[in-house]
Amino acid sequence: MRILSGIQPSGVLHIGNYFGMMRPAIALQDEGETFYFIADYHALTSLQNPAALRENSRRVALDFLACGLDPERGALFRQSDVPRVTELAWILSTVTPMGLLERCHSYKDKTARGMPASAGLFTYPVLMAADILIYDSDLVPVGKDQKQHIEVTRDVAIKINETFGEVFKLPESRIQVSTETVPGLDGQKMSKSYGNTIDIFGEEKETRKRVMSIVTDSTPVEAPKNPDTSSILQLYSLVADEREVAAMKQAFIDGGTGYGEFKKRLFPTLWDYFAPMRARRTEILAQPGYVDEVLGRGAERANAVADRVMERVRQAVGL
Ligand code: TRP
Repeated sequence: MRILSGIQPSGVLHIGNYFGMMRPAIALQDEGETFYFIADYHALTSLQNPAALRENSRRVALDFLACGLDPERGALFRQSDVPRVTELAWILSTVTPMGLLERCHSYKDKTARGMPASAGLFTYPVLMAADILIYDSDLVPVGKDQKQHIEVTRDVAIKINETFGEVFKLPESRIQVSTETVPGLDGQKMSKSYGNTIDIFGEEKETRKRVMSIVTDSTPVEAPKNPDTSSILQLYSLVADEREVAAMKQAFIDGGTGYGEFKKRLFPTLWDYFAPMRARRTEILAQPGYVDEVLGRGAERANAVADRVMERVRQAVGL
């Protein structure tokens, strides 16, 4: 089974990325051959700073490896190291109905938030379909916000298969259910674009400050608090064990403990959770060239598959 996913190098990775995408992606290494890539072509739709794009791409690779990705069990590579994916995107775009793309929430959300409506942003899901189909992927683990894009991928693959014969394998998506949305500091979904993130590898002081700044309601200290709507408790559930979570829940219900106290309990638990990753990151940083070497090997492996699939596609469509 080939498992594929991509992550945009649009900024520093936060714990929403970790629980929503990276952790499940790493766990999936036990289930098949993983192809994970850094979606730098996609990032160009929002980041027009060459130094930052290059730097972020390397850092995402580093952080992924630090979080436990095993580069032997799959390929870790840059999207742009497989340029044929853009050729496939073009071919797919010739059968993709405009209406399919017009219905995509992601495009509507991004332009509503003020991003310029470029053709690249609009056809973003077509490139994503190419990413998935070019490796004959079986399974695509993604966050809930990307589910629609996988549906577009399947629709486009079906369209190609109907038009040109059985060219593509239909991929399945897998959405991480229990942790599909990690709340940010303001209670909205944690996202770089909302500026409400806690970074995985942030400085200790800054991380504590961020945890202490989680927005809460104005329930007084003595009063019982709702355990079901609290971002503190939601974040705590991600990093604490069951017994600790149950204890905090009970303290919410009982009243008598202020939100500040709960945040003080959350911070060290969160900090310790990521301690092994910080240690691994330091180890990797002590080996200059390691990340580039991993990315080079990953690109070779990915290109070998992409070349084969593209041969099939070109044959099928008459190129
Ligand atoms: N659009 C995805 C995101 O922003 C990243 C991505 C690009 C991707 N291509 C992909 C994810 C292919 C899965 C499969 O998170």
